[in-house]
Amino acid sequence: MPSTGSADASVGPLERGLAVLRVLAHAPGGRLRPSELAKATGLARSPVDRIAATLVRLGYLREEERELVLAPRLMVLGAAYLRASALPAVLGPLAAELARELDESVSLAVPDGDAVRFVVQETRRRALSVAFRVGDALPAERCAPGPLFAAGWSAGQWAAWRERWAADPRDEGFPAVPPRTAPRPSHDDFRALAAAAGERGWAVDDQLIEPGLIAVAVPVRAPDGGIVCALSIVSHTSRHSADELREHTLDRLRRTADRMTAALGSPAAGPGGVGGVGGGLAGPGGVGAPVADRTAEAKRESGPQYLQSLARGLAVLAALGEDPRGMTLSAVAHATGLARATARRSLLTLRNLGYVDAHDGLFTPLPRVLDLGYAPLAGLSLGEIAEPHLTELVRRVHDSASVAVLDGEDIRYVGRVAASRTMRVSVTVGTRLPAHATSLGRVLLAGLPAAERARWLARAGLAPLTGLTLTDPDRLSAVLDRVAEDGYALVDQELEEGVRSIAVPVLGREGSVVAAANVSLHAGRTSAQEARTRVLPALRETAERIGADLAVVSGSRPSAPR
Ligand code: PHB
Repeated sequence: MPSTGSADASVGPLERGLAVLRVLAHAPGGRLRPSELAKATGLARSPVDRIAATLVRLGYLREEERELVLAPRLMVLGAAYLRASALPAVLGPLAAELARELDESVSLAVPDGDAVRFVVQETRRRALSVAFRVGDALPAERCAPGPLFAAGWSAGQWAAWRERWAADPRDEGFPAVPPRTAPRPSHDDFRALAAAAGERGWAVDDQLIEPGLIAVAVPVRAPDGGIVCALSIVSHTSRHSADELREHTLDRLRRTADRMTAALGSPAAGPGGVGGVGGGLAGPGGVGAPVADRTAEAKRESGPQYLQSLARGLAVLAALGEDPRGMTLSAVAHATGLARATARRSLLTLRNLGYVDAHDGLFTPLPRVLDLGYAPLAGLSLGEIAEPHLTELVRRVHDSASVAVLDGEDIRYVGRVAASRTMRVSVTVGTRLPAHATSLGRVLLAGLPAAERARWLARAGLAPLTGLTLTDPDRLSAVLDRVAEDGYALVDQELEEGVRSIAVPVLGREGSVVAAANVSLHAGRTSAQEARTRVLPALRETAERIGADLAVVSGSRPSAPR
């Protein structure tokens, strides 16, 4: 495609790139082969390949065994919307407080066209039911918040709802919801339901999603009276009937909603009503910091496969998280390092596609941005985040690699990729081993604050597992000092004869040790020296990549992945 800067050359790739991301986000496991992507998007194979090459280069997708897979870095887009909305930062703590008080799940959802999209999930007792993630969308007619939003719909919005209702009778456009079991309301039924909800100021979901799952929702209003989002309590029929849930919780819900309205109007929430509150993405990769336009350089390096206007459009979208009051064209150009005309083209395309709102010269991202893979990625565990990186490491070093966390006196494996060679230590995810005798454990212990380490050493049994196991707390403490200084631990046959292992810390956003990654080696095949010179550099790179992904994922949700 000639880079003439004409409307076609610059707008097309962004629109198609977003279509590819949405299709992948809705695919099971967030993965598809390029040929499947072409089929699902209706695009020819060669634009799909160029879009994929660009998105892989940007770190938004991964290639894995000829499939394209959503990568955690993609969450920066949805995070930009969440940050700009300021709803998680301003209202999240109040939702968490209510969930604690009632010991029930609490969520906040915003209207997104004729859908309802979650922006906060405080989950309790969900073993019995599907658990929705931040970014998941439900059809308005199949949840408690829907009728509250529909009460204010314009004729155009009702028409859009009817169109979708007719085109997607099985809710296939909503990958998070199980197939429908409850009967579908007619248009008139749902209109009546919405009118009643609007009047009463509450709505109930009596098992519209799945048998057993019930919810009650109330509107949360901005100080000017407009509905900003819906606050829901979610429970199960094993605990209450839907009516009982409403009777027990409606007052509490309303009180919390009123406090939320006050919070939205407080000076801390910024002059635009909401916003002005921190809690965004920072840290490695500078997510949330100005997005430099490195796309020209990438274009030079990657050649004609690289779609600069797609890269620039996504940089614009990511940059919009920086100011909850909305950003002017100049601010966007400044934040991205793009020329005004280029930034403007991206913004207009994004607005036309429903990802960005424009008002009084200010641009803000819309909830639809969360449809670009946020929810599936928000559900990843630490092990799932680590796995592709461990796989790559095993390919490089030809020995098994793992990620573990500290759990009492033990380490617990949360991610593991075995090399094809059979090892004598057979470990799987969930395996626990004594922390003191493993390289993973020593890295984790070395990362503890001094007082915590001292308490741990005073409590731990330090049992000998081989003739070489260190069992003296003072000597172990000295070794841990050394590990902290060196940034790695090498443990030689203290866990099991013949096994040598080397581990490094995985650092969280604030530089604390959140996990450890290791490679376990056959002592007869790999010397300690070789572990340091050949394995350690690759292991360090892997730990950095895991840490960078973790920073994006945990920066976008209240609790760190386990
Ligand atoms: C949820 O937060 O999981 C939820 C909220 C409202 C519903 C159903 C589920 O109607």
